[in-house]
Amino acid sequence: MTAMAAAAELDCDGDPFDLGDDIAYQRWRAAKLATRPRRPEDLVVDVADPAALSAAERAALLQRIAACNMAIYRSASVAADKASARAVGAQFGLHRLDANWLADEDGISSITVSDTHDGRGGFIPYTDRPIKWHTDGYYHPESRRIRAMVLHCVRPAHSGGVSSLLDHELAYIAVRDASPRWLQALMAVDAMTIPGRDDETGVARAAQSGPVFSVNPQDGALHMRYTARTRSIEWKDDPVTRHAVAFLERHLADDNPCVLRVRLEAGMGIVANNVLHDRSGFIDDPAAPRLLYRARYLDRTPGLPDGRCPGARKGLLRSPGPLLRTGEAGSTQDLGDESAPWPNG
Ligand SMILES: [Fe+2]
Repeated sequence: MTAMAAAAELDCDGDPFDLGDDIAYQRWRAAKLATRPRRPEDLVVDVADPAALSAAERAALLQRIAACNMAIYRSASVAADKASARAVGAQFGLHRLDANWLADEDGISSITVSDTHDGRGGFIPYTDRPIKWHTDGYYHPESRRIRAMVLHCVRPAHSGGVSSLLDHELAYIAVRDASPRWLQALMAVDAMTIPGRDDETGVARAAQSGPVFSVNPQDGALHMRYTARTRSIEWKDDPVTRHAVAFLERHLADDNPCVLRVRLEAGMGIVANNVLHDRSGFIDDPAAPRLLYRARYLDRTPGLPDGRCPGARKGLLRSPGPLLRTGEAGSTQDLGDESAPWPNG
């Protein structure tokens, strides 16, 4: 289907995430698949200064986010600081930072290898180990759903540190096409439970049950809560859920053509609506260790430059159009590791 045809198909009412509305789903699905990015560079937009985007740069990034829930900016501006990372998010309507207990005081996390003495040591983001597939904040309660994130690279690793990315809406399509019953199981409010965690002062975090896929009642956008970890996670113990989870694992482990792999270099960053992602292990240069700033938001990006939000119930009116193609990006296969305690995202 051409992008123009996709646009025509999208010009309809209905809710593509309603299992009872197959007409809306099929139209959205066709357009989504027709406009999905084929290569990592389809996501990339070259910008002069990510903290002060031009209107054209912002529109190009928004177009990609609208099509595939993520975009990558690339700049020669490597002297970024946390204020710059925050400024990136603000340009996409992202203001409500999630101040998790491992974030710095300003709510933005410095993702770098950390020893065991500063409170972060041992948690996977702060090691050089691989991180399995997940969405950020999967262990959060519903009131703190992470809906978007900015990941800005100040310094890459000496080698490795490649991110795999998969639009969670494409994962939704895969599950729904395979079995609507599996999708229904993954939308159950008790589908996935993260057990509570104790520390020396008592309960550090209560158990969190929730769905894998959910639809935001305010804007109709799809959210995904997932981790491929098998420790410190309890799936609902019924056959349908087990089959659905096994399917998702295979979908992510297979050579999935929808998975894009990219290594962020200095001055590059990702703006995303909390898509599925993993990270390969890496080797640091001790003199210049890998450093990324990560901001996680309770807000979602606004969608198209005119404010429409493809995939959301009230905004699914037109295709974002074909993606521009620029540049090249690296690619490697990732490994999994779960020897460190949660959280891993
Ligand atoms: Fe993450």
